[in-house]
Amino acid sequence: MQKKIYGELKIFSGTAHPGFGNKICDYLNIKLGKAELFKFSNDNTFVRILENIREKDVFIIQPASSPVNDNLMELLIFIDAARRASAGRISAVIPYFPYGRTDKKDQPRVPITARLVADLLTVSGADRILTLDLHAGQIQGFFNIPVDELTASSILANKLKSIMKKDKDYVVVATDLGGAKIAREIATILKTPIAIIDKARNDNSEKVMAHHLIGDVAGRDAFIVDDEIGTGGTIVSSFNVLKANFAKNIYCASTHGIFSNNAIRKLSDIDIKNYFITDSIPQDYTEYNKFKEVSVANLFGEAIKRIHEGSSVGELFNNNKNK
Ligand code: R5P
Repeated sequence: MQKKIYGELKIFSGTAHPGFGNKICDYLNIKLGKAELFKFSNDNTFVRILENIREKDVFIIQPASSPVNDNLMELLIFIDAARRASAGRISAVIPYFPYGRTDKKDQPRVPITARLVADLLTVSGADRILTLDLHAGQIQGFFNIPVDELTASSILANKLKSIMKKDKDYVVVATDLGGAKIAREIATILKTPIAIIDKARNDNSEKVMAHHLIGDVAGRDAFIVDDEIGTGGTIVSSFNVLKANFAKNIYCASTHGIFSNNAIRKLSDIDIKNYFITDSIPQDYTEYNKFKEVSVANLFGEAIKRIHEGSSVGELFNNNKNK
């Protein structure tokens, strides 16, 4: 069978995080595509692509960060516009995938919203998805189109490595059993042991209820790692558990910094030395110097280049020990 060759690479950004789109374009040495996006007075979103994309290889960048539903809807409308403009292939680039925690029917009469989002993206016309550290890898299976899931593990690990001192002992700490995979990936790069906090939530109130520690943290500096920080409750309780178990200095690294309910302020008030957070979601840390942004834009740029050229994205993980 003849291999399908897609046309020129075109990158567009929704309004959620244009700075991230620009960083990706800088890496690829191309200009961000032109589009007009606004809301009518009746709150309806409008998108118009301002250049010819007929048969082109189009990537649309939009993290579904807050306001989640607006940003998600804008992405769907953007994809629809691209499809109706006869794009050759449309890739939805979603640095932060929404509704990742609603990925199973774990209570009676509840939706599986992550699956619904997958269906919406497919119906709108996306041919592929490029995303980062899904809350659960199985969400890939909600799609019947190709999904490339990148991971920030090695980028965050290298950042943590840069602050490690030879005369200290360290431990990487997962905030729950589900986080053990990312913790193990980071601990393998840092050559440290891991510990796991046994966390439970009893209801939908976002309150973290129970905590036990598996592993030894006494006398060690601890790196708490997680895929996302929401209200910050998980990090605060993890910090308390680590302190109660005699950990020394505590640092934190997380892929997605959602920071709902004034979490940045709350987290800057506890004795965590630094937070290393990727730029998958736009945040302003200027007043909070404990927070350090770690960019994943080049990782996305390289993945987009490889998808466009038809070369391996998996090799990117192997070469960079990303996965
Ligand atoms: C949960 O399973 C995730 O890995 C995070 O720990 C969680 O989403 C953080 O939420 P919050 O900051 O609201 O405790």
